[in-house]
Amino acid sequence: CVRTPKVLSIQSHVVHGYVGNKAATFPLQYKGWDVDVLNTVQLSNHPGYGKFTGHKAKASDVYDILKKGLLGDLNMTYDAILTGYIPCTDTLKLLSQTLGDACKKDHRLKWIVDPVLGDNGKLYVSDKNVPVYKCILRENRLFMVTPNQFEMETLTGMGITSLESLRQGFIKFHNLYPLVERVVITSMEITISDDNTDYLVCACCDFVAKPDAVHYFKVPKLNAHFSGSGDLFTALLLDCLLHPTAKQPLDLSHTVSAVLSLVDDILLRTMDLTLSKGDFLTNKPSVINDLKLVNCLDLLAQPPGSHTTTRF
Ligand code: ATP
Ligand code: MG
Ligand code: NA
Ligand code: MG
Repeated sequence: CVRTPKVLSIQSHVVHGYVGNKAATFPLQYKGWDVDVLNTVQLSNHPGYGKFTGHKAKASDVYDILKKGLLGDLNMTYDAILTGYIPCTDTLKLLSQTLGDACKKDHRLKWIVDPVLGDNGKLYVSDKNVPVYKCILRENRLFMVTPNQFEMETLTGMGITSLESLRQGFIKFHNLYPLVERVVITSMEITISDDNTDYLVCACCDFVAKPDAVHYFKVPKLNAHFSGSGDLFTALLLDCLLHPTAKQPLDLSHTVSAVLSLVDDILLRTMDLTLSKGDFLTNKPSVINDLKLVNCLDLLAQPPGSHTTTRF
């Protein structure tokens, strides 16, 4: 009988759709996690729709819930903490302090930081959040950090355009943030070979096990733009790496590969259920607003590593 692992997930909430906590909670619960869900914003839907309503949580409210409520009165302990979209700089600063203290008190606690800053060359949070993330990464023993390409470039101060600069980027990251144990760059648009360019690159390095080994994966690009896929990817990676039934010692690159295949299956299913036949025939990338997570129970049920998609 396996004990139920507990995770605290601190991300955005959308009433409609599946990004942030809505993309992470259901898959983690389905995989057997007790998920405590702390929302940094409550929005009608994700901003990709063009219009949305809602509000940010006040820093003092988030702090009260976490510090006084969960970690204070309830004396909660967690196996893992997952932090994502935290747009308010004051909230980010308070969380940095509180979660840093929690990790120092409990050395088994694993903090996974998705350093949400922006994408495609642009910040979508205040530039004041950048130094706060740098400080979080410098000062805490973090189990894993999952930047996208833009976030990796912002945190290291160097451009990543090729395999060589990718390797240099990991070295620089490790020099700047030696306490971070693992990095997974969730997706990059870089050219690795000239054969074709219809792929995304995902890359990882386990600084504890093999600091010199950078693994990368070419993921065939689907002709669509998804929202929430990065958040889903990070949540599934957390499950594969930290579930009590996970194989020890864990191998980061094998796990990333298994999760990429599962995400690929979920995105393919989402496309199938969202688009009509005609949409597949156009060259224009389709904008897919909502992941079809509740239609993917059969995919989520399979053990990691069994998704040997033929697309890879
Ligand atoms: P963030 O959400 O922090 O911006 P990101 O930009 O790296 O992270 P995505 O671009 O959604 O997040 O990528 C996460 C994973 O989702 C990729 O590693 C890939 O497996 C999958 N993915 C996303 N978009 C596509 C696509 N168009 N075709 C194929 N796979 C995709
Ligand atoms: Mg992205
Ligand atoms: Na990411
Ligand atoms: Mg993200």
